[in-house]
Amino acid sequence: MAPSTSSTSLMALLLMLFPVLHVAAEAPTPLSSAQIILAACKNVGSASTHVDVEFCQEALGSVADAVHSLDYQDLAGLAVGLLIDNATSTEGKIVRLLREGGGGGVRLKEENDAAVARCLQSCQSLYGGIIDGGPPCMSAVNAGKFGAATAILEKAAVAAKECEDGFGKSSSTSLLTPEDKDAYELAKLGAAFLRFA
Ligand SMILES: *[C@@H]1O[C@H](CO)[C@@H](O)[C@H](O)[C@H]1NC(C)=O
Repeated sequence: MAPSTSSTSLMALLLMLFPVLHVAAEAPTPLSSAQIILAACKNVGSASTHVDVEFCQEALGSVADAVHSLDYQDLAGLAVGLLIDNATSTEGKIVRLLREGGGGGVRLKEENDAAVARCLQSCQSLYGGIIDGGPPCMSAVNAGKFGAATAILEKAAVAAKECEDGFGKSSSTSLLTPEDKDAYELAKLGAAFLRFA
């Protein structure tokens, strides 16, 4: 009789445990990446005046597949990756504009053309610096060296602003306003995530 008793009690035990296991498996409903992104962006947005929640949501939304948790170190890495991609494409645009002549296809007076070309050359070197800072910044983020990573990001934000301000100083219309804004905000976003990491 012993085996049957023990299998009966095993059955009873399983029956008792089953609802518990069932509930345990269901309880932590995983957050969707959209929910994680919203929470992350609200957190950094309320802590930094340089971070716009909507910009943050759009930026992370473009890499939503890579957003799995509110791990701010990972999120900072994503922002750095976006900044590198962004700066690389901006540098490409600058090279194209310089090839077409400073005015970017727009006919300008000769001295204006020269002024715009000088601004673009300066921006090319500034964006070159942002791109060069990308890999060491990413390594610093991954290694948990948040101070070093933040310093590179702050430098990138300054570079993007300097590019934009250069046009104003030479009384030229900036040909890179959206790009400068994106680079500035992505750099600030990365730095803001690192403050939570
Ligand atoms: C640059 O970043 C902004 C903000 O995330 C994004 O909207 C834009 O598409 C990016 N551009 C490129 C070329 O990566």
